[in-house]
Amino acid sequence: MPGDNVTAGPAAADPSVAEMAAASLAPDAESVLEPSRHRTFIKSIVGGAATVEELVGRKVVVGGWVKTGREQGKGTFAFLELNDGSCLANLQVIVDAGVFPLSQLVATGTCVLVEGVLKKPPEGTKQKVELKVEQVLEVGPVDPSKYPLPKTRLTLEFLRDFVHLRARTNTISAVARIRDELAYATHTFFRQNGFRYVHTPIITTSDCEGAGEMFQVTTLFSDAEKVEKELKQNPPPSESEIEAAKLLVKEKGEAVAHLKSLKASKEEISAFVSELTKAKESLAKLEERFMMKPGIPQKDGRIDYARDFFGRQAFLTVSGQLQVETYACALGNVYTFGPTFRAEHSHTSRHLAEFWMVEPEIAFANLEDDMNYAENYVKFLCQWLLDHCREDMEFMVKQFDKTAMDRLKLVSSTPFVRISYTKAVQLLENVTDKKFENKVEWGMDLASEHERYLTEVIFKKPVIVYNYPKGIKAFYMKLNDDKKTVAAMDVLVPKVGELIGGSQREERLEVLVDRIQEAGLPLEPYEWYLDLRRHGSVKHSGFGLGFERMILFATGIDNIRDVIPFPRYPGRADL
Ligand code: 4AD
Ligand code: MG
Repeated sequence: MPGDNVTAGPAAADPSVAEMAAASLAPDAESVLEPSRHRTFIKSIVGGAATVEELVGRKVVVGGWVKTGREQGKGTFAFLELNDGSCLANLQVIVDAGVFPLSQLVATGTCVLVEGVLKKPPEGTKQKVELKVEQVLEVGPVDPSKYPLPKTRLTLEFLRDFVHLRARTNTISAVARIRDELAYATHTFFRQNGFRYVHTPIITTSDCEGAGEMFQVTTLFSDAEKVEKELKQNPPPSESEIEAAKLLVKEKGEAVAHLKSLKASKEEISAFVSELTKAKESLAKLEERFMMKPGIPQKDGRIDYARDFFGRQAFLTVSGQLQVETYACALGNVYTFGPTFRAEHSHTSRHLAEFWMVEPEIAFANLEDDMNYAENYVKFLCQWLLDHCREDMEFMVKQFDKTAMDRLKLVSSTPFVRISYTKAVQLLENVTDKKFENKVEWGMDLASEHERYLTEVIFKKPVIVYNYPKGIKAFYMKLNDDKKTVAAMDVLVPKVGELIGGSQREERLEVLVDRIQEAGLPLEPYEWYLDLRRHGSVKHSGFGLGFERMILFATGIDNIRDVIPFPRYPGRADL
Protein backbone atom coordinates (compact mmCIF):
# COMPACT_ATOMS: atom_id res chain seq x y z
CA MET A 1 0.00 0.00 0.00
CA PRO A 2 1.38 3.46 -0.80
CA GLY A 3 2.44 5.58 2.15
CA ASP A 4 -0.10 8.30 1.50
CA ASN A 5 -3.02 5.92 1.60
CA VAL A 6 -5.34 8.01 3.72
CA THR A 7 -7.84 5.23 4.19
CA ALA A 8 -5.27 3.13 6.02
CA GLY A 9 -6.21 2.83 9.65
CA PRO A 10 -8.46 0.77 11.82
CA ALA A 11 -11.56 1.47 9.75
CA ALA A 12 -9.89 0.27 6.58
CA ALA A 13 -8.57 -2.97 8.02
CA ASP A 14 -11.64 -5.03 7.19
CA PRO A 15 -13.06 -5.00 3.63
CA SER A 16 -12.93 -1.26 3.08
CA VAL A 17 -15.53 0.82 1.33
CA ALA A 18 -12.84 1.57 -1.24
CA GLU A 19 -12.57 -2.12 -1.97
CA MET A 20 -16.33 -2.40 -2.13
CA ALA A 21 -16.34 0.48 -4.57
CA ALA A 22 -13.73 -1.13 -6.71
CA ALA A 23 -15.64 -4.37 -6.58
CA SER A 24 -18.88 -2.74 -7.67
CA LEU A 25 -17.34 -0.94 -10.65
CA ALA A 26 -14.83 -3.58 -11.69
CA PRO A 27 -16.23 -7.09 -11.70
CA ASP A 28 -12.79 -8.62 -11.45
CA ALA A 29 -11.56 -7.05 -8.21
CA GLU A 30 -8.31 -9.01 -8.48
CA SER A 31 -7.22 -6.94 -11.46
CA VAL A 32 -7.80 -3.53 -9.87
CA LEU A 33 -4.62 -1.48 -9.79
CA GLU A 34 -3.33 0.11 -6.63
CA PRO A 35 -3.94 3.83 -7.23
CA SER A 36 -1.70 6.51 -5.76
CA ARG A 37 -4.70 7.79 -3.84
CA HIS A 38 -7.42 5.47 -2.59
CA ARG A 39 -10.76 7.05 -3.31
CA THR A 40 -14.15 5.60 -2.55
CA PHE A 41 -16.72 5.93 -5.29
CA ILE A 42 -19.86 7.67 -4.11
CA LYS A 43 -21.85 4.93 -5.82
CA SER A 44 -20.61 2.37 -3.34
CA ILE A 45 -21.68 4.57 -0.43
CA VAL A 46 -25.09 5.86 -1.49
CA GLY A 47 -26.13 3.22 -3.97
CA GLY A 48 -24.15 0.15 -3.04
CA ALA A 49 -25.27 -2.96 -1.26
CA ALA A 50 -23.67 -1.87 2.04
CA THR A 51 -26.17 -1.20 4.83
CA VAL A 52 -26.16 1.96 6.92
CA GLU A 53 -24.78 -0.03 9.86
CA GLU A 54 -21.88 -1.28 7.73
CA LEU A 55 -21.09 2.21 6.51
CA VAL A 56 -21.39 4.32 9.64
CA GLY A 57 -18.09 4.94 11.36
CA ARG A 58 -15.95 4.22 8.29
CA LYS A 59 -13.21 6.59 7.31
CA VAL A 60 -13.21 7.32 3.57
CA VAL A 61 -11.72 9.62 1.00
CA VAL A 62 -14.12 10.92 -1.63
CA GLY A 63 -13.48 13.28 -4.51
CA GLY A 64 -15.84 14.99 -6.89
CA TRP A 65 -17.47 18.22 -7.95
CA VAL A 66 -19.80 20.29 -5.80
CA LYS A 67 -23.34 20.36 -7.17
CA THR A 68 -24.60 22.75 -4.53
CA GLY A 69 -22.96 24.12 -1.45
CA ARG A 70 -24.34 26.28 1.33
CA GLU A 71 -22.88 27.74 4.47
CA GLN A 72 -25.02 27.13 7.56
CA GLY A 73 -25.13 27.97 11.26
CA LYS A 74 -23.91 31.53 10.64
CA GLY A 75 -20.94 30.27 8.70
CA THR A 76 -19.84 27.67 11.25
CA PHE A 77 -20.21 24.77 8.81
CA ALA A 78 -21.19 24.00 5.23
CA PHE A 79 -23.21 21.34 3.43
CA LEU A 80 -21.83 20.22 0.08
CA GLU A 81 -23.73 18.03 -2.34
CA LEU A 82 -20.89 16.14 -3.95
CA ASN A 83 -21.06 14.17 -7.18
CA ASP A 84 -18.21 12.10 -8.59
CA GLY A 85 -19.91 10.74 -11.70
CA SER A 86 -19.96 7.14 -10.46
CA CYS A 87 -23.73 7.44 -10.09
CA LEU A 88 -26.49 9.99 -10.30
CA ALA A 89 -26.87 10.46 -6.56
CA ASN A 90 -24.80 12.94 -4.57
CA LEU A 91 -23.16 12.43 -1.21
CA GLN A 92 -23.96 14.99 1.44
CA VAL A 93 -20.72 16.29 2.91
CA ILE A 94 -20.41 18.43 6.02
CA VAL A 95 -17.37 20.64 6.59
CA ASP A 96 -16.76 22.68 9.72
CA ALA A 97 -15.36 26.18 9.34
CA GLY A 98 -12.39 25.16 11.47
CA VAL A 99 -11.39 22.51 8.92
CA PHE A 100 -11.19 24.71 5.82
CA PRO A 101 -12.31 28.19 4.67
CA LEU A 102 -15.88 27.39 3.65
CA SER A 103 -16.17 30.11 1.03
CA GLN A 104 -13.60 28.25 -1.08
CA LEU A 105 -15.69 25.08 -1.14
CA VAL A 106 -19.31 26.02 -1.67
CA ALA A 107 -19.33 27.33 -5.25
CA THR A 108 -21.04 25.02 -7.75
CA GLY A 109 -18.44 23.24 -9.85
CA THR A 110 -15.67 23.29 -7.22
CA CYS A 111 -13.59 20.13 -7.17
CA VAL A 112 -12.77 18.70 -3.75
CA LEU A 113 -11.00 15.67 -2.37
CA VAL A 114 -11.90 15.17 1.27
CA GLU A 115 -11.31 12.66 4.00
CA GLY A 116 -13.89 12.07 6.66
CA VAL A 117 -16.05 9.67 8.58
CA LEU A 118 -19.44 8.40 7.47
CA LYS A 119 -22.20 9.33 9.90
CA LYS A 120 -25.86 8.59 10.34
CA PRO A 121 -27.77 11.75 9.40
CA PRO A 122 -30.37 13.24 11.77
CA GLU A 123 -33.77 11.50 11.75
CA GLY A 124 -36.05 12.64 8.96
CA THR A 125 -33.38 13.47 6.37
CA LYS A 126 -33.46 11.62 3.08
CA GLN A 127 -29.78 10.65 2.96
CA LYS A 128 -28.72 7.16 3.96
CA VAL A 129 -25.43 8.47 5.33
CA GLU A 130 -23.47 11.69 5.24
CA LEU A 131 -19.77 12.44 5.41
CA LYS A 132 -18.30 14.51 8.22
CA VAL A 133 -15.06 15.94 6.83
CA GLU A 134 -11.90 15.79 8.91
CA GLN A 135 -9.47 16.98 6.27
CA VAL A 136 -9.77 18.77 2.95
CA LEU A 137 -7.02 17.22 0.86
CA GLU A 138 -7.36 19.01 -2.46
CA VAL A 139 -9.44 21.83 -3.91
CA GLY A 140 -9.98 22.94 -7.50
CA PRO A 141 -11.70 26.27 -6.98
CA VAL A 142 -14.35 27.93 -9.12
CA ASP A 143 -15.13 31.60 -9.58
CA PRO A 144 -18.94 31.57 -9.53
CA SER A 145 -19.11 34.75 -11.58
CA LYS A 146 -17.30 32.97 -14.41
CA TYR A 147 -18.51 29.34 -14.17
CA PRO A 148 -20.69 28.76 -17.25
CA LEU A 149 -22.94 26.11 -15.68
CA PRO A 150 -24.80 27.70 -12.80
CA LYS A 151 -27.09 25.73 -10.52
CA THR A 152 -30.27 26.56 -12.39
CA ARG A 153 -31.74 23.98 -14.71
CA LEU A 154 -30.10 24.34 -18.11
CA THR A 155 -31.58 23.26 -21.42
CA LEU A 156 -29.81 20.57 -23.42
CA GLU A 157 -29.58 23.04 -26.27
CA PHE A 158 -27.75 25.55 -24.08
CA LEU A 159 -25.39 22.83 -22.91
CA ARG A 160 -24.34 22.08 -26.51
CA ASP A 161 -22.27 25.26 -26.34
CA PHE A 162 -20.30 23.72 -23.47
CA VAL A 163 -19.56 20.18 -24.58
CA HIS A 164 -16.35 20.36 -22.54
CA LEU A 165 -18.24 20.92 -19.28
CA ARG A 166 -21.67 19.42 -19.85
CA ALA A 167 -20.69 15.95 -18.58
CA ARG A 168 -20.93 17.47 -15.11
CA THR A 169 -24.70 17.78 -15.44
CA ASN A 170 -27.06 15.04 -14.27
CA THR A 171 -28.49 14.39 -17.71
CA ILE A 172 -25.29 14.19 -19.70
CA SER A 173 -23.52 12.08 -17.09
CA ALA A 174 -26.51 9.71 -16.93
CA VAL A 175 -26.46 9.45 -20.73
CA ALA A 176 -22.72 8.73 -20.59
CA ARG A 177 -23.25 5.87 -18.16
CA ILE A 178 -26.12 4.46 -20.22
CA ARG A 179 -24.01 4.73 -23.35
CA ASP A 180 -21.13 2.94 -21.67
CA GLU A 181 -23.45 0.17 -20.47
CA LEU A 182 -24.84 -0.27 -23.99
CA ALA A 183 -21.32 -0.56 -25.38
CA TYR A 184 -20.40 -3.12 -22.75
CA ALA A 185 -23.65 -4.99 -23.38
CA THR A 186 -22.86 -5.00 -27.09
CA HIS A 187 -19.50 -6.67 -26.59
CA THR A 188 -21.06 -9.07 -24.09
CA PHE A 189 -23.86 -10.07 -26.47
CA PHE A 190 -21.57 -10.75 -29.39
CA ARG A 191 -19.00 -12.58 -27.30
CA GLN A 192 -21.73 -14.79 -25.84
CA ASN A 193 -22.81 -15.62 -29.38
CA GLY A 194 -19.37 -16.52 -30.65
CA PHE A 195 -18.52 -13.32 -32.53
CA ARG A 196 -15.07 -11.75 -32.89
CA TYR A 197 -14.59 -7.98 -32.73
CA VAL A 198 -12.82 -6.66 -35.83
CA HIS A 199 -11.48 -3.12 -36.25
CA THR A 200 -12.33 -1.83 -39.69
CA PRO A 201 -10.61 1.25 -41.12
CA ILE A 202 -11.82 4.78 -40.58
CA ILE A 203 -10.12 5.92 -43.79
CA THR A 204 -11.37 4.06 -46.82
CA THR A 205 -11.22 4.16 -50.58
CA SER A 206 -14.59 2.47 -51.20
CA ASP A 207 -18.07 3.93 -50.78
CA CYS A 208 -20.06 1.25 -48.94
CA GLU A 209 -23.52 2.64 -49.44
CA GLY A 210 -22.72 4.00 -52.90
CA ALA A 211 -24.58 7.15 -51.94
CA GLY A 212 -21.70 9.56 -52.43
CA GLU A 213 -22.11 11.04 -48.96
CA MET A 214 -18.50 10.71 -47.93
CA PHE A 215 -16.13 13.19 -46.33
CA GLN A 216 -12.95 13.36 -48.32
CA VAL A 217 -9.60 12.84 -46.61
CA THR A 218 -6.91 14.84 -48.36
CA THR A 219 -3.73 16.75 -47.65
CA LEU A 220 -3.83 18.55 -51.01
CA PHE A 221 -5.25 21.72 -49.48
CA SER A 222 -2.84 21.97 -46.58
CA ASP A 223 0.03 21.07 -48.92
CA ALA A 224 -1.05 23.80 -51.34
CA GLU A 225 -1.23 26.30 -48.50
CA LYS A 226 2.24 25.32 -47.33
CA VAL A 227 3.66 25.76 -50.83
CA GLU A 228 1.93 29.11 -51.22
CA LYS A 229 3.33 30.37 -47.89
CA GLU A 230 6.77 29.04 -48.66
CA LEU A 231 6.86 30.67 -52.08
CA LYS A 232 5.77 33.98 -50.59
CA GLN A 233 8.49 33.94 -47.93
CA ASN A 234 11.09 32.49 -50.18
CA PRO A 235 10.40 33.18 -53.88
CA PRO A 236 11.36 30.40 -56.32
CA PRO A 237 14.72 30.68 -58.16
CA SER A 238 14.80 32.31 -61.56
CA GLU A 239 15.87 30.44 -64.69
CA SER A 240 19.21 32.28 -64.68
CA GLU A 241 19.89 31.11 -61.11
CA ILE A 242 19.28 27.54 -62.27
CA GLU A 243 21.59 28.06 -65.22
CA ALA A 244 24.29 29.46 -62.93
CA ALA A 245 23.96 26.45 -60.62
CA LYS A 246 24.18 24.09 -63.60
CA LEU A 247 27.28 25.88 -64.77
CA LEU A 248 28.85 25.50 -61.33
CA VAL A 249 28.19 21.74 -61.38
CA LYS A 250 29.77 21.57 -64.82
CA GLU A 251 32.84 23.50 -63.69
CA LYS A 252 33.27 21.39 -60.56
CA GLY A 253 32.87 18.22 -62.64
CA GLU A 254 35.51 19.37 -65.07
CA ALA A 255 37.87 20.26 -62.22
CA VAL A 256 37.54 16.74 -60.78
CA ALA A 257 38.15 15.21 -64.23
CA HIS A 258 41.17 17.44 -64.72
CA LEU A 259 42.70 16.44 -61.37
CA LYS A 260 42.11 12.79 -62.15
CA SER A 261 43.88 13.13 -65.52
CA LEU A 262 46.82 14.76 -63.69
CA LYS A 263 46.82 11.76 -61.33
CA ALA A 264 46.55 14.13 -58.37
CA SER A 265 46.60 12.80 -54.82
CA LYS A 266 43.51 11.05 -53.34
CA GLU A 267 43.08 13.83 -50.76
CA GLU A 268 43.14 16.55 -53.40
CA ILE A 269 40.61 14.74 -55.61
CA SER A 270 38.25 13.94 -52.75
CA ALA A 271 38.21 17.61 -51.66
CA PHE A 272 37.06 18.56 -55.17
CA VAL A 273 34.59 15.67 -55.33
CA SER A 274 32.96 16.92 -52.14
CA GLU A 275 32.62 20.39 -53.69
CA LEU A 276 31.05 18.80 -56.75
CA THR A 277 28.57 16.91 -54.55
CA LYS A 278 27.60 20.13 -52.77
CA ALA A 279 27.06 21.91 -56.09
CA LYS A 280 24.87 19.03 -57.31
CA GLU A 281 22.81 19.09 -54.12
CA SER A 282 22.25 22.79 -54.32
CA LEU A 283 21.20 22.47 -57.98
CA ALA A 284 18.73 19.72 -57.06
CA LYS A 285 17.22 21.91 -54.35
CA LEU A 286 16.92 24.88 -56.71
CA GLU A 287 15.29 22.69 -59.35
CA GLU A 288 12.84 21.30 -56.82
CA ARG A 289 11.87 24.81 -55.72
CA PHE A 290 11.70 25.91 -59.38
CA MET A 291 9.06 23.19 -59.92
CA MET A 292 6.95 24.29 -56.93
CA LYS A 293 3.61 25.58 -58.16
CA PRO A 294 0.92 27.20 -56.03
CA GLY A 295 -2.55 25.64 -55.99
CA ILE A 296 -3.97 22.11 -56.18
CA PRO A 297 -1.98 19.83 -58.52
CA GLN A 298 -3.82 19.11 -61.74
CA LYS A 299 -3.42 16.59 -64.53
CA ASP A 300 -5.41 16.57 -67.77
CA GLY A 301 -7.68 19.27 -66.39
CA ARG A 302 -8.57 17.32 -63.24
CA ILE A 303 -7.24 17.18 -59.68
CA ASP A 304 -4.20 14.93 -59.63
CA TYR A 305 -4.93 12.61 -56.70
CA ALA A 306 -1.78 10.66 -57.47
CA ARG A 307 -0.07 13.56 -55.66
CA ASP A 308 -2.40 13.24 -52.63
CA PHE A 309 -1.34 11.58 -49.36
CA PHE A 310 -2.52 8.07 -50.27
CA GLY A 311 -1.76 8.44 -53.98
CA ARG A 312 -5.50 8.18 -54.63
CA GLN A 313 -8.78 9.65 -53.46
CA ALA A 314 -9.67 8.63 -49.90
CA PHE A 315 -12.63 9.18 -47.58
CA LEU A 316 -13.94 8.71 -44.05
CA THR A 317 -15.94 5.52 -43.91
CA VAL A 318 -19.76 5.54 -44.02
CA SER A 319 -19.85 1.95 -42.76
CA GLY A 320 -17.36 -0.78 -41.91
CA GLN A 321 -19.51 -3.40 -43.59
CA LEU A 322 -17.60 -4.10 -46.77
CA GLN A 323 -14.34 -4.50 -44.89
CA VAL A 324 -15.84 -6.56 -42.09
CA GLU A 325 -17.28 -8.90 -44.73
CA THR A 326 -13.71 -9.91 -45.55
CA TYR A 327 -13.33 -11.19 -41.98
CA ALA A 328 -16.77 -12.83 -41.95
CA CYS A 329 -15.56 -14.77 -44.98
CA ALA A 330 -12.71 -16.14 -42.87
CA LEU A 331 -13.66 -16.03 -39.20
CA GLY A 332 -17.38 -16.64 -39.63
CA ASN A 333 -19.14 -14.52 -37.00
CA VAL A 334 -17.63 -11.05 -36.62
CA TYR A 335 -18.69 -7.51 -35.81
CA THR A 336 -17.25 -4.06 -36.03
CA PHE A 337 -18.17 -1.18 -33.74
CA GLY A 338 -16.77 2.21 -34.51
CA PRO A 339 -17.37 5.73 -35.71
CA THR A 340 -18.85 6.28 -39.16
CA PHE A 341 -19.26 9.50 -41.09
CA ARG A 342 -21.86 10.89 -43.46
CA ALA A 343 -21.59 14.19 -45.23
CA GLU A 344 -25.34 14.57 -45.63
CA HIS A 345 -26.85 17.94 -44.87
CA SER A 346 -29.49 16.53 -42.56
CA HIS A 347 -30.45 18.95 -39.84
CA THR A 348 -32.78 16.49 -38.11
CA SER A 349 -32.84 15.30 -34.52
CA ARG A 350 -32.00 11.77 -35.78
CA HIS A 351 -28.90 12.46 -37.89
CA LEU A 352 -25.28 13.17 -37.09
CA ALA A 353 -22.33 13.66 -39.41
CA GLU A 354 -20.28 11.39 -37.12
CA PHE A 355 -22.08 8.53 -35.41
CA TRP A 356 -21.21 5.09 -34.08
CA MET A 357 -22.44 1.92 -35.64
CA VAL A 358 -22.46 -1.70 -34.50
CA GLU A 359 -22.17 -3.98 -37.51
CA PRO A 360 -22.24 -7.75 -37.17
CA GLU A 361 -21.56 -9.89 -40.22
CA ILE A 362 -22.46 -13.57 -40.19
CA ALA A 363 -21.28 -16.28 -42.57
CA PHE A 364 -23.73 -19.02 -43.62
CA ALA A 365 -26.64 -16.82 -42.50
CA ASN A 366 -29.72 -15.86 -44.49
CA LEU A 367 -32.08 -12.92 -44.05
CA GLU A 368 -34.13 -14.68 -41.43
CA ASP A 369 -31.04 -15.43 -39.34
CA ASP A 370 -30.13 -11.78 -39.73
CA MET A 371 -33.49 -10.66 -38.38
CA ASN A 372 -33.21 -13.12 -35.50
CA TYR A 373 -29.81 -11.77 -34.51
CA ALA A 374 -31.00 -8.17 -34.78
CA GLU A 375 -34.09 -8.83 -32.68
CA ASN A 376 -32.18 -10.73 -30.02
CA TYR A 377 -29.46 -8.11 -29.86
CA VAL A 378 -31.93 -5.23 -29.36
CA LYS A 379 -33.80 -7.23 -26.72
CA PHE A 380 -30.53 -8.00 -24.96
CA LEU A 381 -29.63 -4.29 -24.87
CA CYS A 382 -33.02 -3.38 -23.40
CA GLN A 383 -32.82 -6.07 -20.74
CA TRP A 384 -29.27 -5.01 -19.92
CA LEU A 385 -30.38 -1.47 -19.16
CA LEU A 386 -33.21 -2.74 -16.97
CA ASP A 387 -30.73 -4.90 -15.08
CA HIS A 388 -27.79 -2.49 -14.85
CA CYS A 389 -29.04 1.09 -15.20
CA ARG A 390 -32.08 1.40 -12.95
CA GLU A 391 -31.16 4.68 -11.30
CA ASP A 392 -30.23 6.45 -14.53
CA MET A 393 -33.26 5.04 -16.33
CA GLU A 394 -35.57 6.22 -13.53
CA PHE A 395 -34.03 9.65 -13.94
CA MET A 396 -34.84 9.57 -17.66
CA VAL A 397 -38.42 8.58 -16.88
CA LYS A 398 -38.75 11.47 -14.45
CA GLN A 399 -37.08 14.10 -16.61
CA PHE A 400 -37.64 13.16 -20.24
CA ASP A 401 -39.97 10.34 -21.06
CA LYS A 402 -42.45 8.68 -18.75
CA THR A 403 -42.66 5.67 -21.02
CA ALA A 404 -38.89 5.01 -21.36
CA MET A 405 -38.74 2.14 -18.90
CA ASP A 406 -42.00 0.57 -20.10
CA ARG A 407 -40.64 0.69 -23.61
CA LEU A 408 -37.55 -1.24 -22.57
CA LYS A 409 -39.72 -3.82 -20.80
CA LEU A 410 -42.02 -4.17 -23.78
CA VAL A 411 -39.23 -4.52 -26.30
CA SER A 412 -37.21 -6.96 -24.22
CA SER A 413 -40.18 -9.29 -23.84
CA THR A 414 -42.35 -9.01 -27.00
CA PRO A 415 -41.60 -10.63 -30.37
CA PHE A 416 -41.01 -8.05 -33.09
CA VAL A 417 -43.56 -7.83 -35.90
CA ARG A 418 -42.15 -8.90 -39.29
CA ILE A 419 -43.81 -7.67 -42.47
CA SER A 420 -42.69 -7.40 -46.06
CA TYR A 421 -42.20 -3.98 -47.59
CA THR A 422 -45.13 -4.71 -49.92
CA LYS A 423 -47.39 -5.41 -46.95
CA ALA A 424 -46.13 -2.28 -45.17
CA VAL A 425 -47.02 -0.16 -48.20
CA GLN A 426 -50.50 -1.72 -48.34
CA LEU A 427 -51.05 -0.92 -44.68
CA LEU A 428 -49.89 2.66 -45.14
CA GLU A 429 -52.04 3.11 -48.26
CA ASN A 430 -55.07 2.22 -46.19
CA VAL A 431 -54.36 4.81 -43.52
CA THR A 432 -57.19 7.33 -43.37
CA ASP A 433 -56.63 9.09 -40.06
CA LYS A 434 -53.40 10.76 -41.13
CA LYS A 435 -52.19 12.60 -44.18
CA PHE A 436 -48.55 11.77 -44.95
CA GLU A 437 -46.31 14.45 -46.39
CA ASN A 438 -44.70 11.89 -48.71
CA LYS A 439 -47.02 9.97 -51.02
CA VAL A 440 -47.32 6.26 -50.30
CA GLU A 441 -46.76 4.01 -53.32
CA TRP A 442 -44.86 0.82 -54.03
CA GLY A 443 -41.27 1.66 -54.93
CA MET A 444 -40.88 4.67 -52.65
CA ASP A 445 -38.42 4.74 -49.80
CA LEU A 446 -40.19 4.70 -46.44
CA ALA A 447 -39.86 8.15 -44.87
CA SER A 448 -39.49 8.63 -41.15
CA GLU A 449 -43.22 9.51 -40.87
CA HIS A 450 -44.16 6.16 -42.44
CA GLU A 451 -41.73 4.19 -40.33
CA ARG A 452 -42.96 5.77 -37.15
CA TYR A 453 -46.60 5.28 -38.09
CA LEU A 454 -46.00 1.58 -38.59
CA THR A 455 -44.19 1.06 -35.30
CA GLU A 456 -45.92 3.65 -33.09
CA VAL A 457 -49.50 3.67 -34.33
CA ILE A 458 -50.27 0.44 -36.19
CA PHE A 459 -48.25 -2.09 -34.21
CA LYS A 460 -47.10 -0.19 -31.09
CA LYS A 461 -43.96 -2.32 -30.97
CA PRO A 462 -40.80 -2.90 -33.01
CA VAL A 463 -41.43 -3.86 -36.61
CA ILE A 464 -39.01 -5.46 -39.04
CA VAL A 465 -39.77 -4.55 -42.64
CA TYR A 466 -38.08 -6.82 -45.20
CA ASN A 467 -37.75 -7.36 -48.96
CA TYR A 468 -37.47 -3.77 -50.18
CA PRO A 469 -37.54 -2.73 -53.86
CA LYS A 470 -34.03 -3.05 -55.25
CA GLY A 471 -34.11 0.50 -56.64
CA ILE A 472 -33.99 2.11 -53.20
CA LYS A 473 -31.40 -0.13 -51.56
CA ALA A 474 -27.62 -0.56 -51.78
CA PHE A 475 -25.90 -2.64 -54.47
CA TYR A 476 -24.59 -5.34 -52.12
CA MET A 477 -28.01 -6.64 -51.05
CA LYS A 478 -29.06 -10.03 -52.34
CA LEU A 479 -31.44 -9.91 -55.27
CA ASN A 480 -34.57 -11.96 -54.59
CA ASP A 481 -35.98 -14.43 -57.11
CA ASP A 482 -38.70 -11.92 -58.10
CA LYS A 483 -35.81 -9.76 -59.45
CA LYS A 484 -37.67 -6.71 -58.12
CA THR A 485 -36.83 -6.84 -54.43
CA VAL A 486 -33.71 -7.40 -52.37
CA ALA A 487 -33.25 -9.36 -49.13
CA ALA A 488 -33.00 -6.21 -47.02
CA MET A 489 -34.47 -5.57 -43.59
CA ASP A 490 -34.91 -2.49 -41.43
CA VAL A 491 -35.79 -2.63 -37.75
CA LEU A 492 -38.18 0.19 -36.87
CA VAL A 493 -38.81 1.14 -33.26
CA PRO A 494 -41.14 3.59 -31.53
CA LYS A 495 -39.71 7.06 -30.83
CA VAL A 496 -36.88 6.70 -33.37
CA GLY A 497 -38.06 5.00 -36.55
CA GLU A 498 -35.18 3.19 -38.26
CA LEU A 499 -32.80 1.75 -35.69
CA ILE A 500 -31.18 -0.98 -37.78
CA GLY A 501 -30.55 -1.46 -41.48
CA GLY A 502 -29.30 -4.80 -42.77
CA SER A 503 -29.51 -7.44 -45.44
CA GLN A 504 -28.41 -10.75 -46.81
CA ARG A 505 -25.45 -10.00 -49.08
CA GLU A 506 -25.30 -10.86 -52.75
CA GLU A 507 -22.88 -13.80 -52.90
CA ARG A 508 -23.24 -14.49 -56.67
CA LEU A 509 -20.43 -12.83 -58.62
CA GLU A 510 -22.30 -12.09 -61.86
CA VAL A 511 -25.36 -10.71 -60.09
CA LEU A 512 -23.19 -8.50 -57.89
CA VAL A 513 -21.28 -7.15 -60.91
CA ASP A 514 -24.61 -6.29 -62.56
CA ARG A 515 -25.88 -4.58 -59.43
CA ILE A 516 -22.75 -2.45 -59.08
CA GLN A 517 -23.03 -1.38 -62.71
CA GLU A 518 -26.77 -0.80 -62.41
CA ALA A 519 -26.06 1.52 -59.49
CA GLY A 520 -23.77 3.52 -61.79
CA LEU A 521 -20.69 2.71 -59.71
CA PRO A 522 -17.25 1.94 -61.15
CA LEU A 523 -16.14 -1.69 -60.76
CA GLU A 524 -12.47 -1.01 -60.11
CA PRO A 525 -12.72 0.10 -56.45
CA TYR A 526 -14.87 -2.97 -55.69
CA GLU A 527 -12.58 -5.58 -57.28
CA TRP A 528 -11.39 -6.77 -53.87
CA TYR A 529 -15.02 -7.07 -52.75
CA LEU A 530 -15.80 -9.10 -55.86
CA ASP A 531 -12.83 -11.33 -55.04
CA LEU A 532 -14.73 -12.54 -51.96
CA ARG A 533 -17.30 -13.91 -54.45
CA ARG A 534 -14.65 -15.26 -56.81
CA HIS A 535 -12.86 -17.25 -54.15
CA GLY A 536 -14.84 -19.34 -51.66
CA SER A 537 -18.02 -17.29 -51.80
CA VAL A 538 -20.40 -17.85 -48.90
CA LYS A 539 -23.98 -16.93 -48.22
CA HIS A 540 -23.79 -14.24 -45.52
CA SER A 541 -25.78 -11.50 -43.86
CA GLY A 542 -25.32 -8.58 -41.53
CA PHE A 543 -26.76 -5.37 -40.23
CA GLY A 544 -25.86 -2.00 -38.75
CA LEU A 545 -27.36 -0.58 -35.58
CA GLY A 546 -27.11 3.18 -35.14
CA PHE A 547 -25.69 3.37 -31.63
CA GLU A 548 -26.96 6.88 -30.88
CA ARG A 549 -30.41 5.96 -32.17
CA MET A 550 -30.40 3.10 -29.67
CA ILE A 551 -29.61 5.60 -26.90
CA LEU A 552 -32.41 7.90 -28.07
CA PHE A 553 -34.76 4.95 -28.04
CA ALA A 554 -33.67 3.90 -24.54
CA THR A 555 -33.59 7.28 -22.85
CA GLY A 556 -36.40 9.10 -24.60
CA ILE A 557 -34.12 12.09 -25.15
CA ASP A 558 -35.31 14.02 -28.19
CA ASN A 559 -32.17 15.10 -29.95
CA ILE A 560 -29.35 12.83 -31.12
CA ARG A 561 -26.87 15.66 -30.48
CA ASP A 562 -27.29 15.12 -26.74
CA VAL A 563 -26.50 11.41 -26.64
CA ILE A 564 -23.01 11.50 -28.17
CA PRO A 565 -20.22 13.16 -26.14
CA PHE A 566 -18.97 15.37 -28.97
CA PRO A 567 -21.67 15.88 -31.58
CA ARG A 568 -20.74 16.69 -35.17
CA TYR A 569 -23.40 18.04 -37.48
CA PRO A 570 -23.53 20.62 -40.26
CA GLY A 571 -21.88 23.77 -38.98
CA ARG A 572 -20.64 22.30 -35.70
CA ALA A 573 -17.57 20.32 -34.70
CA ASP A 574 -16.54 21.73 -31.30
CA LEU A 575 -13.29 20.64 -29.66
O1 4AD B 1 -29.07 1.81 -42.92
P1 4AD B 1 -27.61 2.16 -42.94
O2 4AD B 1 -27.17 3.21 -43.86
O3 4AD B 1 -26.84 0.79 -43.18
C1 4AD B 1 -25.52 0.63 -43.41
O4 4AD B 1 -24.69 1.50 -43.34
C2 4AD B 1 -25.14 -0.80 -43.62
N1 4AD B 1 -23.85 -0.81 -44.31
C3 4AD B 1 -25.11 -1.52 -42.31
C4 4AD B 1 -24.75 -2.98 -42.45
O5 4AD B 1 -25.50 -3.72 -43.04
N2 4AD B 1 -23.61 -3.39 -41.92
O6 4AD B 1 -27.17 2.60 -41.46
C5 4AD B 1 -27.37 1.73 -40.37
C6 4AD B 1 -27.98 2.48 -39.19
C7 4AD B 1 -29.34 3.10 -39.49
O7 4AD B 1 -30.37 2.14 -39.34
C8 4AD B 1 -29.41 4.18 -38.44
O8 4AD B 1 -29.81 3.65 -37.19
C9 4AD B 1 -27.98 4.61 -38.32
O9 4AD B 1 -27.17 3.58 -38.84
N3 4AD B 1 -27.71 5.85 -39.08
C10 4AD B 1 -27.46 7.04 -38.52
N4 4AD B 1 -27.40 7.43 -37.23
C11 4AD B 1 -27.12 8.72 -36.98
N5 4AD B 1 -26.87 9.64 -37.94
C12 4AD B 1 -26.91 9.30 -39.25
N6 4AD B 1 -26.64 10.21 -40.18
C13 4AD B 1 -27.22 7.94 -39.59
N7 4AD B 1 -27.33 7.27 -40.75
C14 4AD B 1 -27.61 6.00 -40.42
MG1 MG C 1 -30.86 2.44 -43.72
